Amino acid sequence: MNPRECESSPLQTRRVQRSRQGIGGLALGLILLVACRPRTTPPDERQLEFLRDGQLVRRLRVQELGTPQPVTAWDPYYQREKTFLAVPLAPLLRQGFSGLSLDGEEAFLRAQDGYTVPIAVERLLEPGGFVALSDRSVPPTPATAPSGKAEATWEPIGPQRADPRPFYLFWSGRDQGRLETHPRPWQLVAIELSRTERRYPHIQPRGLPGSDPAWRGLRLFTGECIRCHAINREGGRVGPDLNVPQSIVEYRPPEQIRAYIVDPGRFRYGSMPAHPHLDAADLDALLAYFAAMKSRKFDPDARATPRPAATP
Ligand code: HEC
Repeated sequence: MNPRECESSPLQTRRVQRSRQGIGGLALGLILLVACRPRTTPPDERQLEFLRDGQLVRRLRVQELGTPQPVTAWDPYYQREKTFLAVPLAPLLRQGFSGLSLDGEEAFLRAQDGYTVPIAVERLLEPGGFVALSDRSVPPTPATAPSGKAEATWEPIGPQRADPRPFYLFWSGRDQGRLETHPRPWQLVAIELSRTERRYPHIQPRGLPGSDPAWRGLRLFTGECIRCHAINREGGRVGPDLNVPQSIVEYRPPEQIRAYIVDPGRFRYGSMPAHPHLDAADLDALLAYFAAMKSRKFDPDARATPRPAATP
């Protein structure tokens, strides 16, 4: 029994006082017994899923991911050096997908909030990729300290100050700091092997000649936007679908769309990142892609009946 813990809780003291007036000594003893049991840390229930074309291949509990080691690296989200307890990504992928070939495959890293970034498996296998299990740069809070084993505490991440748990994928190499090429999903819950054409069959501007700028727009879109935005309900769910029910080009003027993509902060305090590296030709290609998709709508979520109007 830890007397300090008993004294420190006003709620428990109140309970004890009330029982004293009521049912007497036995109840008081029982309550003290229950209230002053040593605290146990709840078991770590975190899991990471491995899928192939939507089918679950394996589910690994946090204890099965390997022995985490401290890894220190500069982080573009935190804008400074961070130390995480982490396991290397390449052996983890081989373990999660053991028995499956990873050669030339594509993967989709899925986060809890609907962020889903496509990435070549070859890139994920680069040395320098890690999955963080806990944040070493945050001192344990007094609430977690007494057990000795501090529960994983994380510094909030990104513009929305999100909790990175259960897992944060990061890169340690000096040349792995660009988010466009080396994405860093937080709240990582699943890694899926698939191909863009299979996973997102309705995002292509079918029927257009290969020379049409819409195809280049599609490549830019899958490289930088689909992690957050869907077209025809296929893609990430962090931002709005840009094609259904209405295409972005049906309700916003082209100049405004361009300006928004380059610097959304001029319009809103939102969570979309700026894209200052996209030049006029890139923006033309993206707009050509959106215009092409406007006449290629596919909406499995379309409602048969109109939405009810908001009631005052
Ligand atoms: C990290 C997630 C993320 C990425 C990456 C991203 N966006 Fe967004 N986007 C959002 C969110 C969230 C919104 C909703 C408003 C906000 O928070 O800014 C949004 C809003 C928009 C809008 C305005 C929609 C409207 O109806 O007002 C456009 C256009 C847009 N995004 C285009 C793009 C394009 C094109 C790309 C790729 C070059 C892109 N976004 C990349 C998250 C993202």
